[in-house]
Amino acid sequence: MSELKNLILHREGFVATIQLNRPQALNALNLELMNELISTFESLDKDDSVRCIVLTGNEKAFAAGADIKEMANASAVEMLERDQFSKWDKIRKVKKPIIAAVSGFALGGGCELMMHCDIVIASETAKIGQPEINIGVMPGAGGTQRLTRAVGKVLAMELVLTGRFLSAEEALKAGLINRVVPVEFYLEEAQKLAAEIANRPPVAVRLAKEAILKSFDTTIEMGLEYERKNFYMLFATEDMKEGMAAFVEKRKPEWKGK
Ligand code: CAA
Repeated sequence: MSELKNLILHREGFVATIQLNRPQALNALNLELMNELISTFESLDKDDSVRCIVLTGNEKAFAAGADIKEMANASAVEMLERDQFSKWDKIRKVKKPIIAAVSGFALGGGCELMMHCDIVIASETAKIGQPEINIGVMPGAGGTQRLTRAVGKVLAMELVLTGRFLSAEEALKAGLINRVVPVEFYLEEAQKLAAEIANRPPVAVRLAKEAILKSFDTTIEMGLEYERKNFYMLFATEDMKEGMAAFVEKRKPEWKGK
């Protein structure tokens, strides 16, 4: 991996933590940072020594959105040619589970990046929203689609059309995040959960994540079929034999990831 200018990468056991690191700009997601982030995700996804990824910012900001200064003078044609948000699909395609550890601002592209993650642990200081309307635009990296699926039409409309921020408690109630913890613990809590998931059979984790994500872009019928195929496929793994044998023999299973 080439040198990272806007990220800090940390590993412990099977868990890799990526920290967004442009604190001077509240982790605004400029092109350089996003390129680094996407290639880091892709290389961690291929790395067998990583089973779960935590994505975090700092206490003040997870990320305050796409970099406004980088877009302020762009024309429509330049934005079309830059097509910076289509690359974010590569994050959606990461096979390993991603846990967002969010504190402070998660706004615009920051909220959209959070919603690319599979699980969200937030600090009680989190402020989450899609304020693009206040700078004359609208969400462009999935906000109108993912937020609506997560919180429903009426709240998504209110948030996108006014730019109002949700508090952590409101986001929890709306089903946008999994849990809220005191600010001292949000990262630790996310890493603990990541270690717990990393301690599960990796192929089953991968196929289960894939099946859940499938539900967003298919019919219930196709989704159920997809789920069944993944379920049957797991009977080809050594970990399935081990998991069931361990249950019968009343011992702890030892996962091989095969
Ligand atoms: N882009 C570029 N720089 C940003 C930024 C952004 N999205 N958000 C904050 N910054 C910079 C500020 O310009 C400032 O830099 P300087 O010190 O050089 O002036 C620094 O970060 C600190 O910010 P503030 O002084 O504004 O901090 P604050 O605590 O007073 O306010 C805030 C915090 C409410 C988050 C405010 O910074 C803000 O409103 N930021 C913009 C939020 C936003 O509109 N995000 C959406 C961006 S568009 C988008 O994301 C499109 C998409 O769908 C992908």
